[in-house]
Amino acid sequence: MSLICKHVEALEGYTPGEQPRFEGMIKLNTNENPYPPSPKVGEALATVDWQKLRLYPDPVCQQVRLQIAKNLNCDPEQVFVGNGSDEILALFTRAFVEVGGAIGYFDPTYSLYSVLAAIRDAKVKPLPLNDDFTCPMPPADFADAFIWTNPNAPTSVMAAPETIATFAKTFKGVVLIDEAYADFAPANCMALATAPDNQNTVVMRTLSKSFSLAGVRLGYCVGPKRLIEALYKIKDSYNMDALAQVIGLAALSDLPYMQANAQRIIDTRTALTAALEARGWEVLPSATNFLFAKPPVAAAELFAALRAEHIFVRYFPGPKTGAYLRITIGTPEEVARLLDVLARYQA
Ligand SMILES: Cc1ncc(COP(=O)(O)O)c(C=O)c1O
Repeated sequence: MSLICKHVEALEGYTPGEQPRFEGMIKLNTNENPYPPSPKVGEALATVDWQKLRLYPDPVCQQVRLQIAKNLNCDPEQVFVGNGSDEILALFTRAFVEVGGAIGYFDPTYSLYSVLAAIRDAKVKPLPLNDDFTCPMPPADFADAFIWTNPNAPTSVMAAPETIATFAKTFKGVVLIDEAYADFAPANCMALATAPDNQNTVVMRTLSKSFSLAGVRLGYCVGPKRLIEALYKIKDSYNMDALAQVIGLAALSDLPYMQANAQRIIDTRTALTAALEARGWEVLPSATNFLFAKPPVAAAELFAALRAEHIFVRYFPGPKTGAYLRITIGTPEEVARLLDVLARYQA
């Protein structure tokens, strides 16, 4: 008798981006924010009574939920708070896709989706992106549920919200719009999630990128109350720890700080795009805090050369992505150092 479920034994786990720790390294490989979180986070942490950690946290993360509802001008019952958006993605596969059902998404996209589908013992239906990395319109009966990543990762390209709205109206199952990078984009789909007639569309965000809180694990999604209730029904009892709740509330209460940082990153993105294009790179139009760009030399070799200099970017081998590098936007100083090193490799 095999001790492990067959589908678990057969699946290949997700490989997260490398988390190197070198003094003086430049880490542009996992789309973290180069700036610290809001000072309000530090102030809130200083008020935490560590002795109270003996108590369980609020199981529904109500304060954070209320703050998100206030920021978005929606009902708190339309908001689910999760342990990173990765947890919400896992719950999505359990709540809205039957065992053996099919989950659709574009290819290439965030590679966790296919792993979560395999864990759920669901089928996957990847829909290839167009050659220019834009999204084709998925048919209305394409899958039982669909994840539309907008802007997409690792490509950085965004689809118009109107296009996604058209799809969501005709699609038969639940549509999850993964907006991990929306704060760096010129438009987003949140209005679809809060629209009174919406029945099947959920928009997901994370504090890992624009709020500089990848270390905390806090994501949320917004959608029709019926779908949000389903997620609450199946989550772990205490999915958000007490510290994450304090930190999340402080960060979400300081939108101007996040927005100013996002603007700095967008400005650096514009400068890096221009500098790379001047050196012969092909840079996809980015609506995120990273670039997906094709160097004028072999991407795999350049990736290794940068690594040897302790500059970490991300390389995705494969026929569609293998000529490109994904470069997270760092500080102007980090970007200047990257460009210095690239000059040595004539890239
Ligand atoms: C498209 C996309 N969705 C979700 C996530 C996961 O975010 P979180 O840190 O909230 O789990 C990432 C992380 O890189 C991402 O790129």
